[in-house]
Amino acid sequence: MRTFALAGCGRISKNHVDTLLELEKEGAAKLVACCDPIPTRARAIAERTGCRPFQSLESMLDEVQSDVLSICTPSGLHPAHVEAAARRGVDALSEKPAGTDLAAVDRAIEACDARGVHYFVVKQNRFNRSVALLRRALEAGRFGRLYMISSNVYWTRPQDYYEQARWRGTWEFDGGCLSNQASHYVDMVQWMGGAVESVQAFSATLARRIEAEDTIAVNLKFRSGALGSINATNLTYPKNLEGSLTILGERGTVRIGGVALNRIEQWQFDAPDPMDGEVEGANTNPASVYGFGHLPYYRHVLEVLEGEAEPLLTGREGRKSVEIIAAAYESARTGRAVQISGRNSASK
Ligand SMILES: NC(=O)c1ccc[n+]([C@@H]2O[C@H](COP(=O)([O-])OP(=O)(O)OC[C@H]3O[C@@H](n4cnc5c(N)ncnc54)[C@H](O)[C@@H]3O)[C@@H](O)[C@H]2O)c1
Repeated sequence: MRTFALAGCGRISKNHVDTLLELEKEGAAKLVACCDPIPTRARAIAERTGCRPFQSLESMLDEVQSDVLSICTPSGLHPAHVEAAARRGVDALSEKPAGTDLAAVDRAIEACDARGVHYFVVKQNRFNRSVALLRRALEAGRFGRLYMISSNVYWTRPQDYYEQARWRGTWEFDGGCLSNQASHYVDMVQWMGGAVESVQAFSATLARRIEAEDTIAVNLKFRSGALGSINATNLTYPKNLEGSLTILGERGTVRIGGVALNRIEQWQFDAPDPMDGEVEGANTNPASVYGFGHLPYYRHVLEVLEGEAEPLLTGREGRKSVEIIAAAYESARTGRAVQISGRNSASK
């Protein structure tokens, strides 16, 4: 049985707590402590789960031993909280995005390397059945050469959403719709399309009173020569409309849509394959755009800890999206295309 501590008891923590309660029933994992500077939030989780509540991360980590720290704090704090876990030899499981500052993510990677602990980043959409099926088709070479990979994230976040917490929409702790809402889609595009060579973007803050963007159009050039784009906005009227990924290749076309990559809308290849029979069953209908992926993600993490699987989403993997997002923001600021180095300082 692996023990988990939880940092940050806000909105997304519910997915982690639900998942850990499910895994506890199976005897696989247990939540032993949680912390939040807002004491009522930590107490509510403690009452539900029987774990110990804390107001400070440091005192929680000092007083309660756990195998893994699950980090659900504001995005700009993730790397420092990964480091806090690593210093104590505790594995870190960070919510997406890995961070808002590439240098801080590099320091977190180095800290985990130095202590030999795992650094996992949550990108639960990779575990959607539709996405996993697409990935299998890609790995089987069914697309041939890739030509174009594009993603639309047409979601809605009213001003109220930003008023709920002061970190939202700030450059330091959040970023805008690309860094927050679309970061899963940035990950999808780079996971499917491979290494990105350069990025060019226009962004705007058209309607929300926030520091960062509420709308962005990003163009990508992949090292393979393929092109791509990500269009993201939080201004869709009147509600979330689309979270999609389209891949156009030499011998295949796939589009996964729905509000959050939950429905295969196009699945065409030049040659049939037994996996085509799985397309219908891969469609799901999640109640929220967070989807169903946290449970399968935690199962994957437990398999890695047991030595039964290779980690799919490490700090280095999460860093790739952070670098693309940072490049898009730099391009939007400067009006120039920005090259992606793809090297983190710990790998030099
Ligand atoms: N995987 C997903 O689909 C998904 C969905 C939503 C949010 N997220 C990510 O989860 C993170 C949290 O988002 P949220 O919507 O739950 O935000 P939230 O504001 O609802 O919750 C964050 C919580 O962290 C607490 N906190 C702040 N500083 C802390 C500290 N030093 N130690 C402990 N707790 C601290 C806050 O008091 C708050 O309760 C963000 O990085 C966001 O991008 C991921």
